[in-house]
Amino acid sequence: MNQMSTLRAPERPTEPAYFSVWDMHAYYGESYIVQGISLNIHEGEILALLGRNGAGKTSTLRSIARAGSPMVTHGEIWLDHQAVHEMGAHQAAQAGIALVPEDRRIIQGLTVEENLQLAQIAPPKGWSLERIYDLFPRLGERRKQEGTTLSGGEQQMLAIGRALARDIKLLLLDEPYEGLAPVIVHEIEKTLMQIRDLGITTVIVEQNAVAALQLADRAVILDTGTVVYDDTAQHLLDNKEMREEYLAI
Ligand SMILES: Nc1ncnc2c1ncn2[C@@H]1O[C@H](COP(=O)(O)OP(=O)(O)OP(=O)(O)O)[C@@H](O)[C@H]1O
Ligand SMILES: [Mg+2]
Repeated sequence: MNQMSTLRAPERPTEPAYFSVWDMHAYYGESYIVQGISLNIHEGEILALLGRNGAGKTSTLRSIARAGSPMVTHGEIWLDHQAVHEMGAHQAAQAGIALVPEDRRIIQGLTVEENLQLAQIAPPKGWSLERIYDLFPRLGERRKQEGTTLSGGEQQMLAIGRALARDIKLLLLDEPYEGLAPVIVHEIEKTLMQIRDLGITTVIVEQNAVAALQLADRAVILDTGTVVYDDTAQHLLDNKEMREEYLAI
């Protein structure tokens, strides 16, 4: 399914995929923003969630993480047989959903290690510090440094490391490459591939669509809060018309 028109809400699946969003609608106050989004991802896949500015990508991630705003008024969210749509933000985090927001939210006044330790406090306990430092050696080298003094790329690594400090099943990344040099983007890409190999499912929102598509298994394009494309990442890379129309690449 990859036509230009808005994709109609599919039938409610009898057996949801490992991670599945079905016909989700959400509002900021009176503003109707998420207008019937459905997504399906297999365990361990990476989904690139793309679209122009204001298409609703961040709102979709926040809706999935049960952030409270926007307010989800309709739809279902399933993760590994758990009904996430019935949960609040805290429960969704316990169910294994981690949102790494665009601004990364590194806690001021705390070292790298303290940022990670703080994340480890909340159950269920995820990775050990050693394991996080194995994945991100730069964080290990800078463990005593204040987190907010790290470079942009290192702060992104810390934000991802902090997500892994909990036992997560679904990693939601909002523009992780923003403002980063290509060499750092490449370093983070390699880590995301390692994370995929461990069976963690990822949704990546990125303006750098080419980089996201090269990493991803599947691709979804949003436009005004609806899904206008849903196919493999490779098919989108091969689809000049869709790339030009919605991604300007
Ligand atoms: N807190 C809010 N209150 C009201 N409207 C909002 C709020 N946050 C976002 N919106 C609106 O919702 C729409 C979708 O915004 P969203 O941030 O989800 O888009 P996006 O695809 O992430 O865009 P970008 O690429 O610029 O990050 C936009 O029209 C935006 O103005
Ligand atoms: Mg956004």
